[in-house]
Amino acid sequence: MSDKSEVLEDVKNLLEYAKTLGMTEVAAAEAQSMEVSKDTSSDHKIVNTGEAAGANSLQDINDTIGDCKRCKLCDGRNKIVFGVGDPNADIMFIGEGPGRDEDKQGEPFVGRAGKLLTKIINAMGFERKDVYIANIVKCRPPNNRNPEPDEVETCIPFLIKQAELIKPKVIVCLGSVATQNLLNTESKISALRGNFQKWQGIPVMPTYHPAFLLRNSNMKKPVWEDMQKVMKKLSA
Ligand code: URA
Repeated sequence: MSDKSEVLEDVKNLLEYAKTLGMTEVAAAEAQSMEVSKDTSSDHKIVNTGEAAGANSLQDINDTIGDCKRCKLCDGRNKIVFGVGDPNADIMFIGEGPGRDEDKQGEPFVGRAGKLLTKIINAMGFERKDVYIANIVKCRPPNNRNPEPDEVETCIPFLIKQAELIKPKVIVCLGSVATQNLLNTESKISALRGNFQKWQGIPVMPTYHPAFLLRNSNMKKPVWEDMQKVMKKLSA
């Protein structure tokens, strides 16, 4: 694709996403003058990546995971959802755990919420293959309940090793489960979203989960503002 058609494609994606937010006008100047909020450090537990510690590639981590039976989520799962995208991505999106569609296909964020996440990614000027997408846990919790502490404790070392190898410039945590478990905080997502936190020196932007946006479309605008801060951070 030529530079010009890439730009036009990006603008089209951005306008399509803006339309889903109910916007009828685009205020370009506002986006440019938006302040990036000051980074705030957040405590995070140093998790021992255990079995994955020696992994030199994402494939090594996947091989270590194998046909995992380390926690009770293996009982109901169909496919392990490892993560997808560019192993050298600048942005890593972290969700909570696979849902029904993800469990069937073995790929994160492919259901309704995933389609909205893809729109957001496109509106930021990226394709899914340009970013990396993963979850706190790699197997579907029954009835889409939140993952339990023992499940997170078992699975999160693999995600952490993925993030350590990818070394993204920014991590976006989608929703409270991703945010609270990555940052080891009990603070509410409503309090944290929109402000950069830090994890292992990497800026982390907590924002609302796309599934929440499907039920609360008035929250799409704040999420878009969060993503604009992410884009500004990437271009800094
Ligand atoms: N919700 C998530 O948190 N992750 C997925 O992969 C799909 C839905």
